[in-house]
Amino acid sequence: MTQDALIRFENVTRVYTMGQRKLFALREVSLDVRAGEFVAIVGPSGSGKSTLLNLISGIDKPDTGRVWVDAREVSAMGENALAKWRGEKIGIVFQFFQLLPTLTALENVMLPMELRDTFSNHRRERAQTALEQVGLAERATQLPSELSGGEQQRVALARALANDPPILLADEPTGNLDTATGARVVELLGELNRAGKTIVLVTHEETLARAASRIVHVRDGRIEEPE
Ligand SMILES: Nc1ncnc2c1ncn2[C@@H]1O[C@H](COP(=O)(O)OP(=O)(O)O)[C@@H](O)[C@H]1O
Ligand SMILES: [Mg+2]
Repeated sequence: MTQDALIRFENVTRVYTMGQRKLFALREVSLDVRAGEFVAIVGPSGSGKSTLLNLISGIDKPDTGRVWVDAREVSAMGENALAKWRGEKIGIVFQFFQLLPTLTALENVMLPMELRDTFSNHRRERAQTALEQVGLAERATQLPSELSGGEQQRVALARALANDPPILLADEPTGNLDTATGARVVELLGELNRAGKTIVLVTHEETLARAASRIVHVRDGRIEEPE
């Protein structure tokens, strides 16, 4: 494996036991993502994509194997350390934007900063900057219900950028958007990647994955070797 992996899976297996049956969400997956890469994880529903992302963020733990992120073994960290670490290193966007409906766009973006005290002086400015990065500077005072789906996803993206994490994880971020709007969101991920973010995008849409610098195919919990 390469020396400079930012994210590393070493022989990772995640298995769910249901009565007598074992369901392998991931089987002996090894994978390296280098700093600055934009990797698309592509595979059919149920192939283990979300499991893979959740292991990077430490939301989930492997049954065997190890997950390393930025030289720390995420799979071995306790919950408190993990929560703090995640707030610094990882931004996450999901298929459903998960914005708080009673907060404005700007306030939604400020939320993760409030969980982390460091930037208390400049929260509002930093949130405004994050909204600018996703092209929504003018929408700061609007509620989610006053925004289109694409705009809501961009607010969610700005929220993921709030603490300026080096790594962005996106789990089917276009799953709830029309094709053109989805393509725009992925284009934005490309821009953020060029600005220095390491990105792992999960999608089942091969066309969207082309924006990435590398495509990793998963099927039945395994990574398919490139032909
Ligand atoms: N909490 C769970 N309990 C049991 N099985 C699960 C659980 N989470 C995921 N799985 C199973 O693991 C497999 C991979 O799931 P997932 O990573 O969500 O796939 P994808 O994101 O590619 O659709 C699926 O077969 C799914 O049903
Ligand atoms: Mg999924």
